[in-house]
Amino acid sequence: MRAVLCKTLDGVDALELASIEPPKPAPGEVLIRVRTAALNFPDLLIVEGRYQVKPPLPFVPGMEMAGVVHELGEGVDGLSIGDRVSAVVTWGAFAEFAVARAERVVPLPDTMEFGVGAALGLAYQTVWHALKSRARLRKGETLLVLGASGGVGLAAVQLGRQVGATVIAAASSDAKLDICRAQGADHVINYRDADLRKELQATVGKNGVDVVLDPVGGPYSEPALRSLGWRGRYLVVGFAEGTVPKPPLNLVLLSERDILGVYVAEFFRREPRARLDLARELTGFVASGCFTPVISASLPLERFADAMKILQGREAIGKILLIM
Ligand SMILES: NC(=O)c1ccc[n+]([C@@H]2O[C@H](COP(=O)([O-])OP(=O)(O)OC[C@H]3O[C@@H](n4cnc5c(N)ncnc54)[C@H](OP(=O)(O)O)[C@@H]3O)[C@@H](O)[C@H]2O)c1
Repeated sequence: MRAVLCKTLDGVDALELASIEPPKPAPGEVLIRVRTAALNFPDLLIVEGRYQVKPPLPFVPGMEMAGVVHELGEGVDGLSIGDRVSAVVTWGAFAEFAVARAERVVPLPDTMEFGVGAALGLAYQTVWHALKSRARLRKGETLLVLGASGGVGLAAVQLGRQVGATVIAAASSDAKLDICRAQGADHVINYRDADLRKELQATVGKNGVDVVLDPVGGPYSEPALRSLGWRGRYLVVGFAEGTVPKPPLNLVLLSERDILGVYVAEFFRREPRARLDLARELTGFVASGCFTPVISASLPLERFADAMKILQGREAIGKILLIM
């Protein structure tokens, strides 16, 4: 099979398109003929050895995919060969075949395209877990989303709207913010040109925001934390900017704010049943027309490096796909 292969931890430029043997499903695993994979920022980190999980070399990167069940490992029930499915894995999706643990495989409705199924994986499941299970975002609350036009960010804008929250999208350009508005953001802030804290004060007033979802880190985190109101919740999702912020803890004490970590890989491992429920709920939202993932680029597998460089260049809008 054709697959993207990571032989050394030297980043995107060292990756190769290789011809390798397809994996065999172990007991409890499913072999999927991948039709579409989608990219996530952690794909960049894992091929540089900067992700929490370090697969043995060589390995195939790629964390989310959709395709057709090709073979079932021993002991898998509830799935059949030929089923249309999506799955989230830690690595292995940028290939024509990939294995996934059966509990990570979600049936796709007949009407759902493989690209949409793949795009609904890691970022959407992370955001839904964050907003629903961690922050318990409620209708009528205000949600601030940083990096709001990226994969995680746009998922947060759409799911914030789905809950009935007032969504404030913050991003680094007006073009990115136009897309956030089109996806339902009520207010937008260009944090490259404007002072985030002042703009937030002007937008929500003295009460502050109820929930912040932060996949960016760096210089935006502290002003966002300062803008939380009484018992506001701060969701730490990622550090795409490259710097882990170190905010003063008096900011947490003063307004009884909560800082909540979100680590979806560990949530998947510890609570597979709850994760499957979240994944099914997301599929249901899209199947019933509540929203659809924004897909800004679909490239053939051999252009994997171009696709990954879109993310690296801070240019990704919503999701980027690789078509097998
Ligand atoms: N905690 C978890 O379980 C979990 C799961 C999935 C992803 N994540 C994390 O979530 C973050 C976002 O992932 P994603 O797939 O949504 O990525 P993405 O689509 O590339 O979005 C990242 C956003 O971060 C902002 N950004 C600021 N500085 C950047 C830089 N130097 N390089 C790239 N982007 C930069 C960009 O928005 P602006 O240009 O508007 O600032 C960009 O839209 C990553 O840190 C990822 O590791 C965490």
